[in-house]
Order: sequence, then C-alpha cells, then structure tokens
Amino acid sequence: MRIFNKDLRLQDITIMYFTGLAALMVILVASYQAPSNAVDVSSLKPSPSSPLPPLSMPFRMPLDPRGDLQLAWNISYSSQEVYIQLRVADLRHGVILGMSDRGELTNADLVVLWDTGTKSYFGDAWSNSEGHVSLDSQQDYELIEAKKKADGFYLLFKRPFSTCDPRDYVIEEGTVHIIYGLLDQPIASLEDLNLFRIHTGVQRVLMLRPDMPSPTLPPDVQTLDVLAPNIIIPNQETTYWCFIQKLPDDMPKNHIVMYESRITPGNEAIVHHIEVFECATDLRDVPQYSGSCDDKMKPKKLNFCRHVLAAWAMGAEV
Ligand SMILES: *[C@@H]1O[C@H](CO)[C@@H](O)[C@H](O)[C@H]1NC(C)=O
Repeated sequence: MRIFNKDLRLQDITIMYFTGLAALMVILVASYQAPSNAVDVSSLKPSPSSPLPPLSMPFRMPLDPRGDLQLAWNISYSSQEVYIQLRVADLRHGVILGMSDRGELTNADLVVLWDTGTKSYFGDAWSNSEGHVSLDSQQDYELIEAKKKADGFYLLFKRPFSTCDPRDYVIEEGTVHIIYGLLDQPIASLEDLNLFRIHTGVQRVLMLRPDMPSPTLPPDVQTLDVLAPNIIIPNQETTYWCFIQKLPDDMPKNHIVMYESRITPGNEAIVHHIEVFECATDLRDVPQYSGSCDDKMKPKKLNFCRHVLAAWAMGAEV
C-alpha cells in the first residue's frame, strides 16, 4: 500500500491480505436449434491487421481469482449508459456475464457470447429459477466490438443503466453482483444452457462511481510504501498475511492525505483487501514478523497493533 503523507508518527505497520481461490466445475452442453434473434459476431471480427483504437476505460476489475477474466467499464451519465469491456484470456466456446441481486445464478440478467461450433453469437439473455438460460425478447445489450488479440478475446458492449425490460437488472449506485461463466463446449442452442452446469463465479463491483475528478495533492507531499515481502501464498482458500514494517526513528509528525494500493501487476485478482495498522505508540520493541496472521507463533505483542490507518478493498480506486 502506498501512503501519501505530509508527515508520519506511526511506529509500526501491519499488512494483511487474503487470497481467494474459486472452485471449478465443468460443463456439458449440447443442443440443436440455431438462435433466432441473436447477433452473429463472426462477421464483426475485423481483420487482424486493423489497428485498435485506444479504449478509455477508467474502471477495471479482475473477475476470477486467476485474473483470466477482466472487466473494464466507463460510465456516461449524460446518456445513462455503461460501456463494458470483457477480456477473456482463453476463450473456448463462450462466456457469460451477468448481474443478479445477490450474485445468484438464478433469475439473472445475462449477456452471452457462445458458439455453435461453426458460428459465434452474442445476445441479451436471462436465467430462470433453475438456472436455464433464454434469450430476452428485448435485446438491450448492444455489441460494439468482439475481437481476438494477443492477450485474449475482447468483447465491448454497452447497456443503459435501466432498460425497462423486467428481465434486466437495473444498475444503481452501490454494489453490483457480477456473475460470470465460461463455456468449454459449443452449444447449438442457448436454451440447453444451464448455469449450474458450467464453471461460474461471482464478483462484487462498485459500478457507478461518482463523477469526480481525482484530487490534486499538495506540492510537498511525500509517499511511503508499505510492502509485504515476496511470499509464497499457501495453497488454501484464504490467507491473512501479517507483516511488520518499522518506520525510521527520527520520523517527524505527518498528516496522511491519501492512500492507495500497490499490488504487483498480475496479482490484482488475488489480493482481496489490505489493512494498515498502527501499533500502540507506547509499545517499545515491536518484534519483526512476516507470516500468517493466524499462526500460533505470531508474537503476542502484535495484538497491540490495532489502530487502523488505512484500508483498501478490491474495486476501490484510492
Ligand atoms: C466509453 O468507452 C467507449 C468505448 O471505448 C467510448 O466510445 C465512449 O466515448 C466512452 N465514454 C465515456 C463517457 O468515457
């Protein structure tokens, strides 16, 4: 975590974070009918030589713990629309992105890219209370671009915050539960797809952000990096890692004006949150520590490092 300060008084700092690994499920889908009102994307794929216009997508979020699925988006408040870009590192036979009230696979608003083995299709769909998928009669997700690039398959589409289709989710302020799914097999008909039979996951996203410019920092600002050392993440679903970083003895009093995360590129999908604690200022000789926060060998004195200085969670900008 990087802390921008105008002076600092903290004695010691602890860092915690945990990683989450999702379970995998495999899929089997088969069907016979061609979709009626889906958009054929095979004709939309431009020739590989055409240059890519730069995308202005200010918000980004990994969807899965491996970071194979990346979501990026921007917001047009004037037209009440969200532009969504989805990057799939290894697209096999399709991808599903959806929104539902609490991240359930049922009664979800979906956008689906799938192939029948010969052609690819894109469509606005929904899932019923059993997870069965159907195309919406009203198509509200507008496909802008679908193309394969060196680092994955890119899908760009937009939709209004509110579509007036009762099957669609209304995007509002606050957390949006995003669900995703990957198709390992071609499907002849979307009707044969059941979300419970494919590899899926959930991510929480703060989609609508305040339309605010980033603050300007004072000219005399200094930064302090509090970084966990290189560690091997244990093979378990959740790890809280604690690390003590001592500050210089002669550090004057400072005023923190901003903080942000500093995560090694490529690791964004596994760092769920970070907290920086100050140890009790009258605590002398804080022991060095770098290890699991739940380790029985963790020095007892670290229990005095409880005062939260900074907190960051996945999806936050600063
Ligand atoms: C959002 O991104 C799209 C696609 O790159 C772009 O055409 C549009 O102008 C952007 N809108 C805003 C409000 O940034």
